[in-house]
Amino acid sequence: MKKYAVIGNPISQSLSPFIHQQFAKQTGIELSYEALNRDCATQIHLIQTLTQLFNEDYSGLNITLPYKVWAFNIIQEKNGLSTRAAQSGAINTLTFINQETWLGDNTDGVGLVRDLTNNLAWPIKDINILVLGAGGAARGAIFALAQEKPSCIHILNRDSLKAETLAKIFAEESCEIKSITPPFTLNYQLIINATSGSLWQQLPTTIQYVDAKNAYCYDMVYKASPTVFSAWATEKQAKSTSDGFGMLVEQAAESFLKWHQVMPNTHPIIHQLRCNL
Ligand code: ATR
Repeated sequence: MKKYAVIGNPISQSLSPFIHQQFAKQTGIELSYEALNRDCATQIHLIQTLTQLFNEDYSGLNITLPYKVWAFNIIQEKNGLSTRAAQSGAINTLTFINQETWLGDNTDGVGLVRDLTNNLAWPIKDINILVLGAGGAARGAIFALAQEKPSCIHILNRDSLKAETLAKIFAEESCEIKSITPPFTLNYQLIINATSGSLWQQLPTTIQYVDAKNAYCYDMVYKASPTVFSAWATEKQAKSTSDGFGMLVEQAAESFLKWHQVMPNTHPIIHQLRCNL
């Protein structure tokens, strides 16, 4: 039986073991999937941890906070990054092929896009998108959204220099991706909250400049009850709101596809887990 795990710190709240086990049951694939808490103080320590897991016969790992960028650096040195991982600057999916070949991928962005398009049926193509935040989550989201050919993606961050730096990474993309500072006049049909604010019940400090009326508003954070951003958007008469729960299941499905070459059906699992949150 092939062995998989998610590693991070903390990890006890991770839903990944449950999700992957449900996918396995659904597709008839035998596997084990654990949550492993690993306390790595340095990137070198993370390499040692990954090497140990490879030696223990794990076939693949999901990497979660706070190790996504260190794992990216490690796999970059081994020349094993997928294009989307290279563009995201972080990896969340690692596949051990052999001692020399470890492949790093990032399925977060495609998870977001699938949730928006397949689950929520929201538009992306030819619309104006506003991304709040300019950290790792924003970077993965912007690359994936750009592939869907929106009219533009504008980035609003409390640290505008960080947004400018991020926009430069995407200078080659076909749609306009730029950092903006208020005041701005363009209407955005899709607003993505890629800040970590909702984790701490904080609205982005830039929210006062944002007009959510009639916009689709997506929070990449999820909670059992509406996030502060979703609640704000509803109050401001957004067209529709969603948190990032579907994205969580969709990114897991993409990792599952990568490892097992079978795409699971995410809908029943999103429904089942949502009811139990
Ligand atoms: P992640 O990997 O989740 O993106 P990160 O790289 O630490 O985490 O980035 C968090 C992002 O959320 C940053 O863009 C941060 O803004 P700054 O770049 O100005 O630090 C943003 N953020 C977090 N809390 C916020 C808040 N309350 N208001 C506005 N932005 C916030």
